[in-house]
Amino acid sequence: MAKTKHIVLGVTGSIAAYKAAELARMLLKKQWEVAVIMTAAATRFVGELTFRSLTGRPVVTDMFAEAEDWRMPHVSLADWADSLVIAPCTANVLAKLAHGLADDALSATAMACSAPLVLAPAMNEKMWQHPATCENVRLLKARGAICVEPEPGELACGYVGQGRLAALEKIMQAVEKALQSPQR
Ligand SMILES: Cc1cc2nc3c(=O)[nH]c(=O)nc-3n(C[C@H](O)[C@H](O)[C@H](O)COP(=O)(O)O)c2cc1C
Repeated sequence: MAKTKHIVLGVTGSIAAYKAAELARMLLKKQWEVAVIMTAAATRFVGELTFRSLTGRPVVTDMFAEAEDWRMPHVSLADWADSLVIAPCTANVLAKLAHGLADDALSATAMACSAPLVLAPAMNEKMWQHPATCENVRLLKARGAICVEPEPGELACGYVGQGRLAALEKIMQAVEKALQSPQR
């Protein structure tokens, strides 16, 4: 029997964070195991309890919390992951990943992880079009990250433009593609 896939789902501080709960459900429906890491900002938008209940696993929010085993969560999850999926992904996390920052559980896991990376950014259109964000996305794609670009439409901030989290089905397709990439 094929080994079940392990997905680490990173959730960041975007208004679209609530959609990550449905994405977690869709990943679980594939019979994949899902472990969630939330940034501190993400916990302002949606409760850790939602993801803990859906996945049946503790949610990592604090890199320095008491770990269940002797290993540091960012290292054990990085090794466990068959794919690291960050949805929604803020402009801030794009910048951190592009430049190798590792100052919280999610960015440290991303740095320690060699599994395929899927990013689904969501943000205000001006943030998305900012030259810094464009350059960060270019860098991350050049390193092999799969970027599921945000879609045009009405944004929570009141603007109409490109910035909405891509349809969850599109993100799922990207995860399937990532899982098919050659073994690390
Ligand atoms: C109501 C609200 C909505 C926000 N939505 C977004 C968003 O969709 N995308 C984004 O990049 N930042 C958004 N931000 C800003 C981020 O929350 C902020 O940059 C935060 O520091 C991101 O932290 P993180 O990247 O560690 O999750 C929003 C802030 C607020 C107050």
